[in-house]
Amino acid sequence: MSASPSALLRHPLAGAISAQLLGLLFALLFGTIIPELRLYPLLLAGIQGAGAAIASHHLKAPSWWQFIHLVFGPALLLGNRLALPPWIWLAGFSALYLVFGRTDRSRVPLYLTNQLTGDALLKLLPKDPCFVMDLGCGNGGLLRQLARSRPDSEFVGVEHALLTYLWARVRAQYFPNVHIRRGDFWEQPLTPYDVVYAFLSPVPMGELWEKAQREMRPGTRFISNSFAIPDVTPIAVVLVDDRRETELHVYQIAEPDATVTTSNNEA
Ligand SMILES: C[S@@+](CC[C@H](N)C(=O)[O-])C[C@H]1O[C@@H](n2cnc3c(N)ncnc32)[C@H](O)[C@@H]1O
Repeated sequence: MSASPSALLRHPLAGAISAQLLGLLFALLFGTIIPELRLYPLLLAGIQGAGAAIASHHLKAPSWWQFIHLVFGPALLLGNRLALPPWIWLAGFSALYLVFGRTDRSRVPLYLTNQLTGDALLKLLPKDPCFVMDLGCGNGGLLRQLARSRPDSEFVGVEHALLTYLWARVRAQYFPNVHIRRGDFWEQPLTPYDVVYAFLSPVPMGELWEKAQREMRPGTRFISNSFAIPDVTPIAVVLVDDRRETELHVYQIAEPDATVTTSNNEA
């Protein structure tokens, strides 16, 4: 049996490169059958883009990828015609990498929790002093908002993109109860936290819930902005009165199963 398309899509970069190469084959085929096309490089690039978009559709990539594939080749050709110095492209790439990190791996872009959602989150924190983690804290704006209203509590953020981390770190220096760390949140133990907050994407939610269940203490809460955990019923869904109609999905870590404990004791 052939490899399933979803295997390719687990590595989006591999999926994207495959679609582009298939588009290139498509354009080569057209250029061979109709040699006059070689006189019109932009048209040929358009054919390459169309081929890549069709390939991406068949590889079952999300629909917005098809648009990217369609315009990528022609944009490359037009960009090349601008004859900009090569360092500009390198600078653009570096800036994107420093702000967004390895989004091709994490599949989580940067967008920020708004003020109204921060207010709603504040109401979901325990009344007693608590320890809160923001997984992928971006510029740390949410943590600063929470820390301002809850000086009795401690707020930790982890961010892997260098520039975004530095931004959060510098802005947190006047907040003694905000702690920003650089790194991969998959490597952060979640045991100490009373509340773990995530605003990520649909991709990591299932695996993240497994990590939360393994590491978080019973009775503590995992709150996801916008992205529900598949097949898990939240204890509450809080609707925020903002323009994007944000939903906060609130999950509680269950007590260990009593039956399992009994049978373990008997063993
Ligand atoms: C959608 S933004 C949310 C930012 C912030 N939590 C907020 O709500 O305003 C997600 C952030 O997670 C970061 N991120 C994604 N995967 C990560 C990982 N494995 N480890 C650390 N940060 C990650 C991204 O760089 C991005 O800044």
